[in-house]
Amino acid sequence: MRTQVAIIGGGPAGLLLGQLLHRYGIDNVIFERKDRDYILARIRAGVLEQGTVGLLEQVGVAERLHHDGLIHHGIELAFNGARHRIDMTQATGKTVTVYGQTEVTRDLMDARIKAGLTTVYDAGDVSLHDFASGQPRVRYVKDGTTHEMACDFIAGCDGFHGVSRQSVKPDALKLFERVYPFGWLGLLSETPPVSPELIYNNHERGFALCSMRSAHRSRYYLQCKLDDHVDNWPDDKFWEELKRRLDQEAVDHLVTGPSIEKSIAPLRSFVAEPMRFGRLFLAGDAAHIVPPTGAKGLNLAASDVHYLSVALREFYADKSSAGIDDYSRRALSRVWKAERFSWWMTSMLHRFPGTDEFSSRIQIAELNYLIESDAAKMSLSENYVGLPY
Ligand code: FAD
Ligand code: DHB
Repeated sequence: MRTQVAIIGGGPAGLLLGQLLHRYGIDNVIFERKDRDYILARIRAGVLEQGTVGLLEQVGVAERLHHDGLIHHGIELAFNGARHRIDMTQATGKTVTVYGQTEVTRDLMDARIKAGLTTVYDAGDVSLHDFASGQPRVRYVKDGTTHEMACDFIAGCDGFHGVSRQSVKPDALKLFERVYPFGWLGLLSETPPVSPELIYNNHERGFALCSMRSAHRSRYYLQCKLDDHVDNWPDDKFWEELKRRLDQEAVDHLVTGPSIEKSIAPLRSFVAEPMRFGRLFLAGDAAHIVPPTGAKGLNLAASDVHYLSVALREFYADKSSAGIDDYSRRALSRVWKAERFSWWMTSMLHRFPGTDEFSSRIQIAELNYLIESDAAKMSLSENYVGLPY
């Protein structure tokens, strides 16, 4: 068995890369450890940059997104009991689209089936061979039998815990990491959003985020302890805690209801350099993690696979290695800017255990500066809507 590009991981990075390569006439096979339903049950990101929407349009999967996605022109920052709107469209001329990662994934999966492209779900013990030099191969177990596929390139799109980055010799990697001393407890409910735009709340009890998936479905997050567990958070307790962290107007408008999903995610900044090792490329969470504040994780996965697909097209169509040689540098340049932004948003909005009054005053000064200065608003906005690529 043979393909041009073997893609490890069928999350958003792998699926979008598969469709981009297909558009360029490059054959690819996805190897995914889990099954389709498992992947679609994961509730994750919700905000798409215009660039991500553009890529989904490019591969012809934006119909449902344009029908159901919510276009947002601004966000609200809440602190000291009051809310302040940042008009991102006024600052940048751009918008973001609220459309869940689950739906993006579903649309990409459906397009892949329609295009007749191969995805091996439930692929066990995936291992990567001979990518440093020579002809790469991917080995995997399916239904108890070991198979092997030869390829020109391997794209490691298998997330933070995947096998691709772990297949690289440790001394070839430089790792950068910051683990934050808190997590996010997320709750999804079939209730109308508290406000038409997202509210990022800085509060002395901890950060809170009011987000949404549609006009009838809300997504809320609470900063929680790192070792906390969802079982400690019955719905009533979640709603009570959320109300304590919101401004009065939001409390008055909040509609509560039973949760559909609740989960806790740790917060981490992480970058692995470089993103290319011979004929293996890393993309998305396999190469880097951002804390979710600012909604950059999924969008970075999209810009990575854009760079990679263009580089591979150049390799096959123009017989030039220039693109693949430059992939890691190009991708990392954008990755680090998003790392900075996500770290900054996280630092400005969360309560850090053990910090003093000085730190809280600095946070409030930073927030006040943001709402008073056009230059600061512009800086926040251009990062939030997504830096160009
Ligand atoms: P993933 O989505 O992780 O996909 C990787 C795929 O590879 C998975 O399907 C996995 O099953 C598969 N895989 C793993 N190992 C193997 C293997 N050995 N062999 C084969 N397949 C394998 N971002 C935001 O912007 N906002 C959020 O609110 C937000 N919330 C998040 C909550 C959680 C719990 C997590 C983990 C992430 C969250 N993110 C969020 C980040 C965002 O979801 C990710 O950045 C995005 O999913 C990255 O896509 P990816 O395809 O690179 O990786
Ligand atoms: C969502 C998640 C984020 O991290 C964010 O900054 C905004 C929205 C969400 O899941 O809706």
